[in-house]
Amino acid sequence: MIKELIDKLYKNNYLNKDELAYIIANKEDEVIKYASTKAAEVRQKYYGNKVFMRGLIEFTSYCKNDCIYCGIRRSNSNAERYRLTAEQILKCCEIGYNLGYRTYVLQGGEDPFYTDDKIIEIVSDIKRLYPECAITLSIGEKSYESYKKYYVAGADRYLLRHETANEEHYAKLHPKELSLRNRKECLFNLKKIGYQVGAGFMVESPYQTPENLAEDLLFMKELQPEMIGLGPFIPQKDTPFRDKKQGSLQTTVLMLALTRLMFPKVLLPATTALGTIHPLGREMGIKAGANVVMPNLSPTDVRAKYSLYDNKICTGDEAAECRNCIERRINSAGFEVDPSRGDNIEWKRK
Ligand code: 5AD
Ligand code: FES
Repeated sequence: MIKELIDKLYKNNYLNKDELAYIIANKEDEVIKYASTKAAEVRQKYYGNKVFMRGLIEFTSYCKNDCIYCGIRRSNSNAERYRLTAEQILKCCEIGYNLGYRTYVLQGGEDPFYTDDKIIEIVSDIKRLYPECAITLSIGEKSYESYKKYYVAGADRYLLRHETANEEHYAKLHPKELSLRNRKECLFNLKKIGYQVGAGFMVESPYQTPENLAEDLLFMKELQPEMIGLGPFIPQKDTPFRDKKQGSLQTTVLMLALTRLMFPKVLLPATTALGTIHPLGREMGIKAGANVVMPNLSPTDVRAKYSLYDNKICTGDEAAECRNCIERRINSAGFEVDPSRGDNIEWKRK
């Protein structure tokens, strides 16, 4: 029965909510294995055995928001805060360029210190120095006009996970000043402007049901994102969710596989969070259909401070170590690093 559903998903790239929730609620090891094999086949068809690398620069740990699950939420007075200067960010790009990265992901909390003008300056500086590189922003909810200005300045991609597509669930993970409605509007605005857009969600975040996960996939069917970021929820010790259960390896791998089957051409990272809950998590993610990794390019002295969740990997490793470690891991899993920008195969800048 479940195998038939997976075959149907493989064939149509679609299942309804009940069908998806049924698979997710009845995930035995064999089901996960079957879904992963089919997903790997689909990934192979469109992307071969290539895995893209993105250099991740976590440039500010200040955040004006208070998401309940997140370690850099504003009410966490134990969080150590830092901001990188434009020069420091450019230095990370230089190091990254020399290590072969052709995509920079600038990620941070929602930090009003970085005004639109500052972001635009940073984006244009990077584009001037490295015109052939892609720039991805991951700096939260902004107005249509701000998103448009960053795009005109040269940003190509934007990551904004929707976190959960269910209203009630969203309200359990966020304070009331944040709304799923606004989050979705931001995502549709980004698409309209022409970005390659990354949505996504946490797997087994507190109060999440199999139906919620099905809704996440179906919401993205509507949005049609070019990238999808998903990883296990991991409790952070200074948040109200400190005692909640961590998301499992099994469910995360299954969700990666279902995502690949539903979105054959999407760019899908094996996330750091997945690498955090199991030493070979990222390799298993790649084998279940993921085709992107995002090694850390942030300066080592700030890494531990960007602590969204506990036990994050790579906090002490130099950029070059992560670069080499990742390539070794990709190779030993039977895949190869693709040194190109790695745009979504259906995207053109407008
Ligand atoms: N566990 C796992 N992922 C988390 N994120 C934030 N906090 C956690 C946590 N405790 C994820 C969110 C966010 C991304 C940058 O990190 O999904 O969008
Ligand atoms: Fe950072 Fe392995 S990816 S050390």
